[in-house]
Amino acid sequence: MASESQNWVLVVTARTPTNIAVIKYWGKRDEKLILPVNDSISVTLDPDHLCTTTTVAVSPSFDQDRMWLNGKEISLSGGRFQSCLREIRSRASDVEDKEKGIKISKEDWEKLHVHIASYNNFPTAAGLASSAAGFACFVFSLAKLMNVNEDQSKLSAIARQGSGSACRSLFGGFVKWIMGKDKNGSDSLAVQLADEEHWDDLVILVAVVSSRQKETSSTSGMRESVETSLLLQHRAKEVVPKRILQMEEAIKNRDFASFAQLTCADSNQIISIVEKWNRSEGTPQVAYTFDAGPNAVLIARNRKVAALLLQRLLFYFPPNSDADLNSYIHGDKSILQDAG
Ligand code: ADP
Ligand code: DP6
Ligand code: CO
Repeated sequence: MASESQNWVLVVTARTPTNIAVIKYWGKRDEKLILPVNDSISVTLDPDHLCTTTTVAVSPSFDQDRMWLNGKEISLSGGRFQSCLREIRSRASDVEDKEKGIKISKEDWEKLHVHIASYNNFPTAAGLASSAAGFACFVFSLAKLMNVNEDQSKLSAIARQGSGSACRSLFGGFVKWIMGKDKNGSDSLAVQLADEEHWDDLVILVAVVSSRQKETSSTSGMRESVETSLLLQHRAKEVVPKRILQMEEAIKNRDFASFAQLTCADSNQIISIVEKWNRSEGTPQVAYTFDAGPNAVLIARNRKVAALLLQRLLFYFPPNSDADLNSYIHGDKSILQDAG
């Protein structure tokens, strides 16, 4: 290290949005590398709403790697954090900050320790994909700090080893996680299907009915399904491959009727308000989907429908009621105010 003093600190901050799967990843073929049993497709939310902000710092005065999540120190000893740290460190390259007189060589990164502070602006482990935004941001911010020269897809394969859904948050817009074939996972990565501008009409509402930590984590729910469900293999081999192709087509053509039908079909819970409404209108207005938890994600075909939907939600779940519904709007904040 070219700097004489031990007092310097180099800091990077990054922000990463969460993503919500419309064709879901559910089941692993390799638990350690996090390799899925099927492809999945998601929409990345707007970073102004549901996101993780992570600050990573390096200094010769740090004597171990440490992390704080939402202000509380957590252990980095778990295999997932260690895999991501190892993969990023092994790709680190020289960093020079002339102003501060800091020069860090590739070899120095093996000896230096990092401190990581991460904050989710939405409920953690409550079924709104905090692990997706969290691990994507973890990998992205460390890669920036350590000057890792890899494209986003390569980084996504590292984030995948933190949490499967995290690989998709490295891109905006519509994203596909290709399951891959390799045993070592090098081809199990995310690619962008369409960017943020492609289908600008869509409005995503996230109805937070509970901020409580879900009882079953995605990891253990998935493990249980793989071990006990005969249907899961059928879903992975027969159902999802067809749905993926149909969903790619629906996104390409901005075909909301197909998009809504496929999204709802792939989600394992039913919202009667949405279903009744879609039936009464004759043509779908809203799609709903749930991750592993009680909180609903609703996708409206346009801003007008989103405003109506929000009114209905506020009617069924008035603010300050037991349901404690907070609505986050992706795309246009003003609708929330108009409808309120
Ligand atoms: P969720 O539905 O929120 O994704 P999961 O059970 O899949 O729930 O994952 C929750 C776990 O993700 C947390 O216990 C924590 O280990 C990890 N996680 C959440 N937020 C972050 C973050 N900002 N940085 C790193 N890891 C995070
Ligand atoms: C229902 O990515 O949270 O949200 O890989 O074990 O961390 P791990 O699980 P996670 O599972 C997400 C499941 C899902 C569907 C999806 O996002 O595709
Ligand atoms: Co998760």
